[in-house]
Amino acid sequence: MFTQLEMAPADPILGLEEAFKKDPNPRKVNLGVGVYKDESGSTPIFEAVKKAEQIILAQEKTKNYLPINGSPEYAKAVQNLVLGADTPILSAGRATTVHTPGGTGGLRVAADFLKKVKPDAKVWISSPTWPNHPNIFRTAGLAVETYPYYDSAANRLGFETMLNAIQQIPNGDVLLLHGSCHNPTGSDPTPAQWAQIAEVVTARKLLPLIDFAYQGLGEGLRQDAAGVEILAAAAPELLIASSFSKNFGLYNERVGALTLVAENTTAASAALSHLKICVRVNYSNPPAHGANIVTTILQTPELQADWQAEVATMCQRIQQMRRLFVQGLAAEGVQRDFSFIESQHGMFSYTGLNKEQVKTLREQYSIYMVETGGRINVAGMTPANIPVISKAIAAVCNPA
Ligand code: LMR
Repeated sequence: MFTQLEMAPADPILGLEEAFKKDPNPRKVNLGVGVYKDESGSTPIFEAVKKAEQIILAQEKTKNYLPINGSPEYAKAVQNLVLGADTPILSAGRATTVHTPGGTGGLRVAADFLKKVKPDAKVWISSPTWPNHPNIFRTAGLAVETYPYYDSAANRLGFETMLNAIQQIPNGDVLLLHGSCHNPTGSDPTPAQWAQIAEVVTARKLLPLIDFAYQGLGEGLRQDAAGVEILAAAAPELLIASSFSKNFGLYNERVGALTLVAENTTAASAALSHLKICVRVNYSNPPAHGANIVTTILQTPELQADWQAEVATMCQRIQQMRRLFVQGLAAEGVQRDFSFIESQHGMFSYTGLNKEQVKTLREQYSIYMVETGGRINVAGMTPANIPVISKAIAAVCNPA
């Protein structure tokens, strides 16, 4: 059977990582996968995570299975972080949370759940979006459609076009939104625009599914939740897939969650019973360690304060790299206006470099970025590599 198989295409993001590792050039720069790097170019373990792990190591008494949906303490901690601890949604018992292996696991559980309870609903994704989104929903058997999102000519969110398009989405379909730090464009709606989106969502009776993988890396932990809070206040039902890969640096622990908000507690409990079946047939129950870390940090005031400070440092460093990069490009005489990079949010920028330019940067300069839209991971930049990157971009943008 296997001798008939041809090679499947490499993943557009993680495949780049494999190519980067093989590149012998000592000056290579990785702006591909969304992984945070500090000033020295490394991805350290958070101090708060190390301290939490010491507490866990001293206190853990068993490696017994977790419940199918994970521990209630973790669910509570996630809900407070994502929805805001004071929201009436929580006091009314309208939210339920399933602990999933990463945000991708959360999206896949959401996809299986939707296929089970709303099999004919289409999932509407932004154009462009994270390349794994359409694959996750199609693999679960759901139809996927796109709505326009980014105005490439203006280098910003094309909000009017987006809003008009989502007004046409049939009642009952699923609208996938990025909670903050849109991947790949870095362009987010303002709170006023989120309010307009929420109006359309409720008027059209759409089900919002929010991919919330970068909370804290755009403007701050609560500021980045503005869209989630506005939608949650307006829409009777929604789904939120959270990832703690980036904002806790727990990439390889695979820790995330799917939070479902229903109209009332009874509906939330019924939905949870279906979500549990989706989990059980997939990976049975979740891995504990990453969630124990997140719970310990969020339940321990001192660790929570340390963690918040570390997230704020990351956020500020990314903003600083955006400024330095725009300055670096100007210093190298790049004629094209890249100033829009400063107003984008989070790890990613859509530079607008074309496929040919991205290929030249990779093959001639060992600078790796995602092919579509020339997406760069700004968090992979350092004051040391910005001149190297800027010089190479000047060479591909201003050919002699
Ligand atoms: C990315 O977009 O680079 C990250 O979300 C990592 C991934 O899994 O693709």
